[in-house]
Amino acid sequence: MTVKYINNILFFDEVNVLDFAKTNQTPFYLYSQNLITHNFMEYTQNLNTANHLLCYSVKANSNLSILSILSDLGSGFDIVSAGELQRVIAAGGDPAKTVFSGVGKTEEEIKFALSKNILCFNIESQEELNTLNKIALAEKKIANVSVRVNPAIDVKTHPYITTGMRDNKFGIDESEIINLYQEANDHKGLNIRGIDFHIGSQITSLEPFIDALSKVISIIKELKSLKIELEHIDIGGGLGISYDKKPIVSKEDFSKEILKLVEPLDLKLLIEPGRSIVGDAGILVTKVINTKKSPSKNFLIVDAGMNDLIRPPLYSAYHAIKEVSQTKNKKILSDVVGPVCETADFLGKDRMLSVKQGDYLCVENVGAYGFVLSSNYNTRPKIDEYLAKDTDIKKIRIRDTIEQILENEKKCLV
Ligand SMILES: Cc1ncc(COP(=O)(O)O)c(C=O)c1O
Repeated sequence: MTVKYINNILFFDEVNVLDFAKTNQTPFYLYSQNLITHNFMEYTQNLNTANHLLCYSVKANSNLSILSILSDLGSGFDIVSAGELQRVIAAGGDPAKTVFSGVGKTEEEIKFALSKNILCFNIESQEELNTLNKIALAEKKIANVSVRVNPAIDVKTHPYITTGMRDNKFGIDESEIINLYQEANDHKGLNIRGIDFHIGSQITSLEPFIDALSKVISIIKELKSLKIELEHIDIGGGLGISYDKKPIVSKEDFSKEILKLVEPLDLKLLIEPGRSIVGDAGILVTKVINTKKSPSKNFLIVDAGMNDLIRPPLYSAYHAIKEVSQTKNKKILSDVVGPVCETADFLGKDRMLSVKQGDYLCVENVGAYGFVLSSNYNTRPKIDEYLAKDTDIKKIRIRDTIEQILENEKKCLV
């Protein structure tokens, strides 16, 4: 639980959310440095018996200040674009602790990552393997590579966030993996470093991880028998968080079970969590602009929309929504909707809430895949982000101005 009421006022970590909302423009994201640190340490403490590197998955929340906190904690990074690598560097992160995933790395991105001597390219297709080899040779570099296995595991999560099922675009089918390593072995521009997989996001039980890992361990054994030696195994990210208070596997149990299988391999363990580092460490605070009653529904129309948090319409994601100031007034079943002109513009449906115009609401567990998926749809500025450490709060991103949104189009106005 990252929020609690004290005398009917909502606190996030140490922050009095009401006081903060009253003196700052809503909507805004607010993150807790203490919670991010706690989540990171939970992994590292439980994995500390093994040689390991946590490569935080930048896509989950790529704010520079958050990357900087993680870099200071010793984190490596998992990136999926040259832009994310530039973020890592700008935040003081180490390219030598950075792995590059993704099915569509462009030539420019590959060159840039090679020039920064990243730890590893996680290869997602045969064509990519050949392209990387060619570029590396032309650049007089050797690219460190790992091949991403698609272990064909059915993960019980939203279909849009499964990545290791047979029909997904990610990774390479088990049947082709050995051939690909043999090819990689023959390429002069490549240095085989590891093997990797990532089966999806918001996974709440252990079994899919264990099933995937077991398949990949068989591949490692086969590679070994062919004298193809690896230095690391990268098990991706994907561990979920509890959005709705349902119990989920803890980082401790996850780590213990993973270590049981990985330690005998005598390989370095890489892990790429995103959501489980930042997800519960962020809230979105929004103000009620209007309340409205239709014949069949009550609406709370708030100043945050789907452009600020798209997870509810995109993934049917549930986020708890709480009053920032609790009263004894009767709670009413309401849909919490934004100002964007789309019926999909909702933060939550059928919530029991008691608020009036001008009151504040807090949307919980939005630290991952929240702000990063926001847009300027309806020409709405992307909003402020703040970071709290105890009671000290710093702005870590300044809200767009309309001028900034229009700028690049004005330059090209016909
Ligand atoms: C390759 C890769 N690694 C790591 C992650 C992070 O996943 P999560 O945020 O669920 O931990 C993702 C996200 O989908 C990913 O695609």
